[in-house]
Amino acid sequence: METQLGKISRGMLLRMAADTLMVQVALIAALVSRLFWQIAFFDREYADGYGETARFYLAFYANNAWPLTIVVLVTLYLMGVYTYSRFYQSRYRALVVFQAVTLAFLIFAALRLFVITAPLPRITLALAWLYTSGLVVSARVWSQLFERIIRPERQAMLSARRGAGQNILVIGGAGYIGSALLGKLLAKGHHVRLLDLMVFGDEPISHLLHHKNLEVMHGDFRHVESVVEAMQGMDAVIHLGAIVGDPACSLDENLTIDVNLTATRMIGELAKAHGVRRFIFASTCSVYGACDEILDERSFVRPISLYGQTKLASEQILFKMATDQFKPTIVRFATIYGLSGRTRFDLVVNLLTAKAKLEGKITVNGGAQWRPFVHVDDAAAAVARIVEAPLQIVAGEIFNVGSNEQNYTISQIGELVHEQVVSAELIVNETDTDRRNYRVNFNKIRNHLGFDPQWTVERGIQQVLEAIANGDVQDYRDARYSNVKFLTESANAAIVRDNWARRLIESLPHE
Ligand SMILES: NC(=O)c1ccc[n+]([C@@H]2O[C@H](COP(=O)([O-])OP(=O)(O)OC[C@H]3O[C@@H](n4cnc5c(N)ncnc54)[C@H](O)[C@@H]3O)[C@@H](O)[C@H]2O)c1
Repeated sequence: METQLGKISRGMLLRMAADTLMVQVALIAALVSRLFWQIAFFDREYADGYGETARFYLAFYANNAWPLTIVVLVTLYLMGVYTYSRFYQSRYRALVVFQAVTLAFLIFAALRLFVITAPLPRITLALAWLYTSGLVVSARVWSQLFERIIRPERQAMLSARRGAGQNILVIGGAGYIGSALLGKLLAKGHHVRLLDLMVFGDEPISHLLHHKNLEVMHGDFRHVESVVEAMQGMDAVIHLGAIVGDPACSLDENLTIDVNLTATRMIGELAKAHGVRRFIFASTCSVYGACDEILDERSFVRPISLYGQTKLASEQILFKMATDQFKPTIVRFATIYGLSGRTRFDLVVNLLTAKAKLEGKITVNGGAQWRPFVHVDDAAAAVARIVEAPLQIVAGEIFNVGSNEQNYTISQIGELVHEQVVSAELIVNETDTDRRNYRVNFNKIRNHLGFDPQWTVERGIQQVLEAIANGDVQDYRDARYSNVKFLTESANAAIVRDNWARRLIESLPHE
């Protein structure tokens, strides 16, 4: 199985090679410093024996450099420095590396003293520890600075140079993520065409309806003629439209396959035929299914719901139709939280927060399952960044959208909500478990595109609480906030089902 932990990736090998070099350089520097120290301060004592002393140090290097390097590498590995464990991903990354190096030197000293019972050159080892810590920690600090500040600035500069003003078709852009995305694209000066059936009405985007650069096409993306019309003159297509979530997708499996998969193939083929070079498809981290490892874009995928399966199959279909001119980009969103034009309360952070505030209960189902989270505004910002990124960086690529720091178990989410609504009762229902369980690595989007979410789950919870307090959300149980409830109501289901063929037959003259 290809996983972040189970497999030594190219990046991991490079980091190990760099650390190997740094340990060796540090040891050489320690031995040379020690030799100079002796020459400088014990000149007379060593006057006849420099050659011998130097030979002693050379022999020390030859016998100890590799054992020491191996102890350091193994300790760093076990402390998760190469596998990006949760411990290492904390804010105090440099401290974790420093602790790992210190522990490695202590282990090495103990091995020399007690296992091979060799004398311990304490000053040389102390110097080697100091130099190794300095080199290894500053390399991490520098790479963090580069990833967080320098690379994003360079990306932003490149985007600015390329200029705004693309013609972008957003399919299914009147929903939870789309209503946050449209404003961002318009603010960047793009011309946006929206193709949406407005299943949830146009209220989510009502504040944008009169924007001069927004063109709204009310239509079904399963209809070839609507998609062909929408595709005219477009530089980029962002396909967000779908039946979203496991419960909503289970209501009518044939319909789900039609909307989420069959339509994707048609839309992809039409985009390719129209010479659209940028095609971004919204997938989900649900494709990872149930797995205890930390998963990245190359990891094994095994969705356990129809929703995840239609998304994975769509990814595969799009990649199959790729050519040099048409290379789709896949974004796998983490579970979304927070407010947008069409806030949903069928997603765990928002739901637990609303229940805590309004019902005094935080009911956690299962609890031990891992899930990555991202704020809806950050999810939209990631898509906006991808659509402006140099094509060679994003074409034909998959990006997990979220951040390493926002992988949580459902119990941890319950506790975060509890911290802000202390009066609520935290109830853990261990028998009722959602089998989905995945922890996701988001290095790729950060390293390639300089994307780092601005929101945290804590701030998202606060945002939802404020909306409830202000009266912006009145009844979170209202069907419009939940995909499955909304689609269970027959009139709404009919909008999505769109039995145009049946309607056509019914409209024919009868006997
Ligand atoms: N919200 C999440 O937590 C999440 C997580 C991972 C991935 N995603 C993916 O992101 C995308 C957007 O999700 P969302 O939460 O904004 O969904 P949403 O349900 O809020 O919005 C979906 C939009 O698609 C439109 N639509 C549905 N069927 C249509 C049709 N036949 N023709 C035209 N328009 C149609 C709806 O009117 C709606 O505006 C989806 O593809 C979803 O799978 C979402």
